[in-house]
Amino acid sequence: MNLPFSFAELSRSFLKNDTLSIDIGFTNIKIVHSRKKNTDTLRIMNYGITPTPPNCIKNGVISDMEGIAVNLKKVITSNGINERNVKIVISAGSNIVSKVLYIKKNETKKIEELIIEEIPRYIPANMRSYKLFYRITGNAEISGIEHYKVLITVVPNTVIDNYVKLVRYLDFKPLAVEIPFSSVARFFGRGVNIDKEVYNTSFKLMEDGDRPVTVVDLGSETTNISILRDGALEFNRIILVGGRVLDDEIAKRLEISRETAERYKKMLKINDISEAKDENDTTIWNCINEYLKEVLMNIKRSMDFYVSRCSGDNPGKVVFVGGGSGLAGLKPLAEKIIGIPAYTVDMMNFTKIEMENNLDRDKLKYLVNAIGIAM
Ligand SMILES: Nc1ncnc2c1ncn2[C@@H]1O[C@H](COP(=O)(O)OP(=O)(O)OP(=O)(O)O)[C@@H](O)[C@H]1O
Ligand SMILES: [Mg+2]
Repeated sequence: MNLPFSFAELSRSFLKNDTLSIDIGFTNIKIVHSRKKNTDTLRIMNYGITPTPPNCIKNGVISDMEGIAVNLKKVITSNGINERNVKIVISAGSNIVSKVLYIKKNETKKIEELIIEEIPRYIPANMRSYKLFYRITGNAEISGIEHYKVLITVVPNTVIDNYVKLVRYLDFKPLAVEIPFSSVARFFGRGVNIDKEVYNTSFKLMEDGDRPVTVVDLGSETTNISILRDGALEFNRIILVGGRVLDDEIAKRLEISRETAERYKKMLKINDISEAKDENDTTIWNCINEYLKEVLMNIKRSMDFYVSRCSGDNPGKVVFVGGGSGLAGLKPLAEKIIGIPAYTVDMMNFTKIEMENNLDRDKLKYLVNAIGIAM
């Protein structure tokens, strides 16, 4: 008798809870094959990072699907991943617009309806062409009237459709298309501890009732700021500046190519200018410092805006992720400019994320979005 399906298929669909998640950055494509062990724990089975071909993604919009598909396929195959259920995160760009809205409570209407009615007052968008992501972050009383405080993000349907098309083009099954802030929130929402070896203690990054935590993704084209409170997203902002402008500046001052400048930037491992070995080191250190100062001031301004205009509390910690979080001298400079303790992924341990033993943990800083959407 012929069975209608193999036992391998049976275990695949009923016993495994796997996903392939994809984060296409301007510089790097990141993929993660993960398995949900129970409602709480995620196991990273494998991952891959490969360069994004030049000019395939512009301002967060896929402009050359085939170019991206070729590299994606290569990195998936070369890592021996055969998972086909895909979650994909949208690259940040100016087409993702977020706002904190105050919506008057009205028992007779659904919250989604109320938000859509209110949006045109804040964003000139015809909501028929946009997808709405929202989260009620609290309540507020304005002139004696009860309001919901809501964080909304709108993304053009055309942008989302392109991601779905890409997944289908690869012959995979799209399960979800997500915005980058949601993935960051899921990653850091719960179960992250900071190991403070110096004090021989470990403490939770985020605890209910604590001050909010700012998470900054330092990418090559964009800097994404998310503010999380009690493990949930309260505020976000995209700054359209990233590591590439720093590479250009180093290249200009040292009269070298951008590629060489980027390599030098990554190789500089000093913590203070007094450790510079030669003039090159000094120039690179100065470029990094000038760049970081500007970015950090920008982050501080966004945090101030969140406090003053969105009735938020002052964040108590700042966390850096993304490739740029490897920049020399980031932690002390961030603490000086923003004025709160700063952390990077290498200082953390994760109670809800496990990794296959052979995988290199050093790359985790790149994988936050891709892991977050799988959680
Ligand atoms: N050790 C390091 N020190 C400093 N910068 C680094 C280091 N490693 C990588 N980078 C920088 O990080 C950036 C790439 O990181 P990442 O993969 O997070 O960006 P991306 O997701 O492709 O960009 P975006 O999010 O803007 O689309 C590059 O600018 C690279 O030069
Ligand atoms: Mg990125």
